[in-house]
Amino acid sequence: MKHEFGPDFVWGTATAAYQIEGAVDRDGRGPSIWDTFSHQKGKIKTGEHADVACEFYDRYESDLQLHKELGFDAFRFSIAWSRILPDGIGRINEPGLQFYDRLIDHCLSLGITPWITLYHWDLPQALENKGGWTNRLIVNWFSEFVNVCTKAFGHKVKHWIILNEPLASSILGYFTGQHAPGRRSFSNLLPVIHHTALVQAEGGRVVRQNIPDAQVGTTFSCSPIDPFTLRDQAAAIRVDALLNRLFIEPTLGMGYPTRELPFLAGIAKKVAKPGDMERLAFDFDFIGLQHYFRAVVEQSYLMPYLWAKDVSPLRRNVQTITEMGWEVYPESMYRIIKQFAQYEGVKKIYITESGAAFYDTIDQGKVNDLARIDYHQNYLRNVLRAKQEGMPVEGYFAWTFLDNFEWAEGYRPRFGLVYVDFRTQQRIVKASGRWFQQMLSKEVLPD
Ligand code: NOJ
Repeated sequence: MKHEFGPDFVWGTATAAYQIEGAVDRDGRGPSIWDTFSHQKGKIKTGEHADVACEFYDRYESDLQLHKELGFDAFRFSIAWSRILPDGIGRINEPGLQFYDRLIDHCLSLGITPWITLYHWDLPQALENKGGWTNRLIVNWFSEFVNVCTKAFGHKVKHWIILNEPLASSILGYFTGQHAPGRRSFSNLLPVIHHTALVQAEGGRVVRQNIPDAQVGTTFSCSPIDPFTLRDQAAAIRVDALLNRLFIEPTLGMGYPTRELPFLAGIAKKVAKPGDMERLAFDFDFIGLQHYFRAVVEQSYLMPYLWAKDVSPLRRNVQTITEMGWEVYPESMYRIIKQFAQYEGVKKIYITESGAAFYDTIDQGKVNDLARIDYHQNYLRNVLRAKQEGMPVEGYFAWTFLDNFEWAEGYRPRFGLVYVDFRTQQRIVKASGRWFQQMLSKEVLPD
């Protein structure tokens, strides 16, 4: 399979600091909103937190060795803002910088290209205390953080991702409250969306200014949206605007999709400052797509502003669903790449996440996760189809390397190619990890 993608295709795995690192109070790290949130009763379904997680902070050397053995040549990880700036701004914590410096050097010494995500949801608690993403000053706070990181690592890291799934962090964090900081109110929504979109562009500008030869990108969660019945077509168009267009279109200079979602007009009326609409645009070198499932929706008067809701896979009698309840639907990968490739301003696409949580069992020391192999294989075939039709898709990062802390779901859903026994920290490469290893070991000759 590998050779069909060509010699320049990037093969990686993706991770995030809070989900794997542990060591939350080590070497001067400040608390983040996820520390606070996960320790509040009832927020995480299993009552767990990520104080220890995969102990990646201490085990990164052997873990990266394993990553190398599996054959991946790129490793995507995020920087925990509060390790670098424990109060979010101001005082720099040298040991925090040193940790990432060692991690980067270790990647490089193994021939693994580091891809850094600057924000993967763990806002310093000190900044949340000042309003977090509802406060416009977040644009300055984030720029300061990006400035410190790019000055420290820009000479050796050339692949930078500004935000991880802005839709998830803004909506789940400040509107529905399912994620940290767990705030729920409609009045937060428009300021948080707008500040997030501004940060995305401003962060891009700081990276480009400090590292002129960087590849700068940002990532979006995305799903093709199908109407449940013919009557639900307008609903599907509205959901598409919310889930797939909200954060990319302002970046491309197209503004917010207010025609489909009139409530967004409140941003220009009440939240934005003069000049903001131009400031939202930034010419990213690449776009990261994070795709897992398609959505099927129907009209609903119960959901204010959107007037639509999801029709669950169970209701549709879908047989192939993951532990997250997500439909396995490989063709959706092809469709979503096609949808994003149609934007004129999208130059390059990487699949910065895709993967599946299935119930894993250990049998004689082995995890025979055939369903996960099928998932990656079939989703990859659809990436290939897009590529062969000329769409500029140039890499695939499996979510994820190690089983880890799946946010509000706790440790139960396992997405890893490597099984982690959270009592002993033992790692077991799953059959899916071996499948990648075999596939990636084939040499690809240049055309
Ligand atoms: C999206 C997020 O970026 C990642 O942190 C999460 O674990 C996976 N997708 C799976 O839900």
